[in-house]
Amino acid sequence: MARADLLKKLFSSFKQDDKDMFYAVASEIIEDEKKKNHGILADDLKLILNGNYQTKKTTMASFNTPKDRDKDMPLVEVIYPEKYFTDLIVSDDKIMQLEQIIKEFSNWDVLVSNGVFPTRRALFYGPPGCGKTLAAQALAGELGIPMLYVRFDALISSYLGETASNIRKVFDYAKQDSWLIFFDEFDAIARSRNDSTEHGEIKRVVNAFLQQIDNYKGRSLIIAATNFEESLDYAIWRRFDETLRFDMPTNEEKIKLFKMKLRKLNGPEHVIEEYLGKMEGFSHSDVEKSCQIIMKQCILEGRKLYTKHDVEYAILKQEMNVALRKTQY
Ligand SMILES: Nc1ncnc2c1ncn2[C@@H]1O[C@H](COP(=O)(O)OP(=O)(O)OP(=O)(O)O)[C@@H](O)[C@H]1O
Ligand SMILES: [Mg+2]
Repeated sequence: MARADLLKKLFSSFKQDDKDMFYAVASEIIEDEKKKNHGILADDLKLILNGNYQTKKTTMASFNTPKDRDKDMPLVEVIYPEKYFTDLIVSDDKIMQLEQIIKEFSNWDVLVSNGVFPTRRALFYGPPGCGKTLAAQALAGELGIPMLYVRFDALISSYLGETASNIRKVFDYAKQDSWLIFFDEFDAIARSRNDSTEHGEIKRVVNAFLQQIDNYKGRSLIIAATNFEESLDYAIWRRFDETLRFDMPTNEEKIKLFKMKLRKLNGPEHVIEEYLGKMEGFSHSDVEKSCQIIMKQCILEGRKLYTKHDVEYAILKQEMNVALRKTQY
């Protein structure tokens, strides 16, 4: 966070339409961030100030991205998430855990020079649609670092030895910068392990991952997300400094999410409470989908106001989707 005095000066310069002062203060903020060892943030701010940020995003995103040899598919995607903790509806505890990760990462040098490491690897687990990916994006957004998005199922190749080689390629690529390296769909490991056709290949995959994660010395935060935490073995659990469970939303969280997602519209917010019973098995994502149904209805009919009927329709529709999902799994 930039210093309060600098922020005040920056705001005043905007109010007074004083471009010179704005540039001077912005440069001071950049220097201040550099001193705090926030090199990437400082560079990004400089690029934004000079109008080159978009170019950096596109150049970096397409630079030398590793690919799977047989499928010719990119193994990683460079993303600059514009998500923050304010987008996340979770318990206060969880926010505190996430803030602690930020604090440690931002004070990397101080911790290391005192002989301790910041949290460098965290495992996010829990049911689908409850914010694992969103929390990882918000961490990257709050830290001001790019996310190196890796889908674990894209890494898994049907060719012997190729998966381990893909994992190595990802870590080799990751060495060139500081990222939030996000292994999504980490349960692909668990899924393959339950596959009766597997003959030791998955063991090699797990070992390659463990070896790479152990040897990785870059200044990055590694996050892995899974829905099948019970299938991960102890060796994997042990590699993570932090494990965070993302639970189904409480009633209070459902109400908060509903209000947040519909904030651009007017309407009888309180009616949501009458439908909590219908939203028993709803994840955060299901609540969000109900809100999207309401928004679409309003947009298509040119309304800025939603009604109790819209809420009822959306929740009943999503309730059917949830029931259908339960019969499929
Ligand atoms: N805690 C939350 N707060 C706000 N929005 C949420 C939350 N959890 C999920 N959402 C919304 O639901 C959608 C799905 O969330 P997300 O992708 O983070 O879920 P996930 O836990 O990663 O699910 P999966 O296990 O299927 O990958 C997103 O669009 C996100 O905006
Ligand atoms: Mg996810």
